[in-house]
Amino acid sequence: MSYLASTDPEIADIIRKEMERQRDGLELIASENVVSRAVLEAMGSIMTNKYAEGYPGKRYYGGCEFHDMAENLARDRLRKLFGAEHANVQPHSGTQANMAVYFATMKLGDLMLSMKLSQGGHLSHGSPVSFTGQFYRVAQYGVDPKTEVLDYGVVEEIARKERPSMIVCGASAYPRTIDFRAFQEIADSVDAFCMADIAHIAGLVATGLHPTSVGVTDFTTTTTHKTLRGPRGGAIMCGKENAAIIDKAVFPGMQGGPLMHTIAAKAVCFGEALRPSFREYNKQIIRNAKVLAESLMDHDLRLVSGGTDNHLMLIDLTDRGITGLEAEQALGRAHITVNKNTIPNEQRSPFITSGLRVGTPAVTSRGMKEGEMRQIGEWIGTILKDIHNEQAIRTIGEEVKSMAAKFPLYPD
Ligand SMILES: Cc1ncc(COP(=O)(O)O)c(C=O)c1O
Repeated sequence: MSYLASTDPEIADIIRKEMERQRDGLELIASENVVSRAVLEAMGSIMTNKYAEGYPGKRYYGGCEFHDMAENLARDRLRKLFGAEHANVQPHSGTQANMAVYFATMKLGDLMLSMKLSQGGHLSHGSPVSFTGQFYRVAQYGVDPKTEVLDYGVVEEIARKERPSMIVCGASAYPRTIDFRAFQEIADSVDAFCMADIAHIAGLVATGLHPTSVGVTDFTTTTTHKTLRGPRGGAIMCGKENAAIIDKAVFPGMQGGPLMHTIAAKAVCFGEALRPSFREYNKQIIRNAKVLAESLMDHDLRLVSGGTDNHLMLIDLTDRGITGLEAEQALGRAHITVNKNTIPNEQRSPFITSGLRVGTPAVTSRGMKEGEMRQIGEWIGTILKDIHNEQAIRTIGEEVKSMAAKFPLYPD
């Protein structure tokens, strides 16, 4: 019995049940992953006991010598991983990384230009329900209605008309390559800052499998828990000239004490990402996504933009007469976890939606390859043909469990 189970059986039981859910199912949520045991160990370490407000060499508390070492290591590894001049590893989350960049560069009421949430953007890119839509004025671009990919000419037109102070690029649900250089050029032409939020594709960018934004756009923000496969958290990278405004915006501007156990785990994650095996892993994420996309299309499912260049794809369910919510629930009953998602030209609410977002980072971490992707595509295709066929869902659910058993979460 674990120590936690003997001291707090209630929470230990909840954690055990969640472990079983993860172990027995297929995690296809594009923003999730399975971290290494080393990341888990650092996160669960005594580094959480300490306050370390400030930065290495300049703390507001005594006894920070080892925290300085951990944070320096995390910063150095992140800079090396992306070739960045400056890195801040303290943001508690991706949203807070974005918030710090906004606070560093804009006054309240300034205008930001960003991608519409319903077409792939993120809440923290100007949604009216986020602080971003309340603190700033927001103009938005979307994807081309026919091709469903970004049209940089249209972004430029909007930028010239609206004259934003900040252009935000990067997305939560965009299956195609993003041209960060084009965004920076547009920003330069209207005298705006440009921030690339690479939260979703950070692993692909770090390994050269997606063009980088680092050293290209003024600021790059990321989460550390998606394709980067680290602990839940955020980070910011920028040129030396903007280092001071970013550090000040994070602390004391926006946060108090950094989560030092998470920063130690970020250092572990960046160290793992610097190894050649991480590039192989990210290559396999992309190969798996391509095969899964083909398999879904073979089952007559329409994918937004006709496929994928990265780790995710969006299924358009409009012609199936079912909603994203219904599809998510039916797949969930077969232990296949996905999320409902809006699609370009969405007619339904974000709680219902007409689409599904599907991604391969977590199943690739478990060691699944092209053969498994073809099989998963077939299961999804079969269930989405008739979401009321409970017998078929039950049978597939059993097959899913036995495939999952062959790819343990933590084989060691
Ligand atoms: C593009 C993008 N940016 C930022 C975030 C926010 O990250 P967090 O949930 O850590 O605040 C997400 C999360 O899904 C995201 O997809």
